[in-house]
Amino acid sequence: MTQNCEIAQLGADVLRQISAKVENINSPAIRKIIDEMTTTLANTQGVGLAAPQISQLQRIIIVASRPSTRYPHAPLMLPTVMVNPSYEALSEQTEKDWEGCLSIPGIRALVPRYTSITVQYEDVRGLTVQSMLEGFVARVFQHEIDHLDGTVYLDRVETNTDIISETEYLKLFV
Ligand code: NI
Repeated sequence: MTQNCEIAQLGADVLRQISAKVENINSPAIRKIIDEMTTTLANTQGVGLAAPQISQLQRIIIVASRPSTRYPHAPLMLPTVMVNPSYEALSEQTEKDWEGCLSIPGIRALVPRYTSITVQYEDVRGLTVQSMLEGFVARVFQHEIDHLDGTVYLDRVETNTDIISETEYLKLFV
């Protein structure tokens, strides 16, 4: 049984460091990280997780959009492991929407993100995948990639008045 890991919280050095490119996706160490990330994310209400959040500085993210109490309007997709991910904006168009982070509990903020992007990553078999993402899923992807570069979403907030408590956030959807 894979271990459920503690999620690094804002202030931890590991959230501010640059993750290393994964060289061998089949190595036991990398496999273990992917398994631990999968288990850890499944035990939360989160829609994504990056390896630094379980204190592993490797370029691995999981995007797992699903409706939940935290994100009632999220589309449903299978959890997707993405290794060495990158993206390019399809246009300069951005939009602001709410984000939260398992490493920053109790807080939500409006964050500007590109609305449509092309992404590239290696899947769990090591095959290169290219696809186009839009809207909420594109947002999650950009949020998780930021973690690989030591950035958290609060760094991208335009004004402090765009930051609210989760309690107030949940009131927006009743
Ligand atoms: Ni996050």
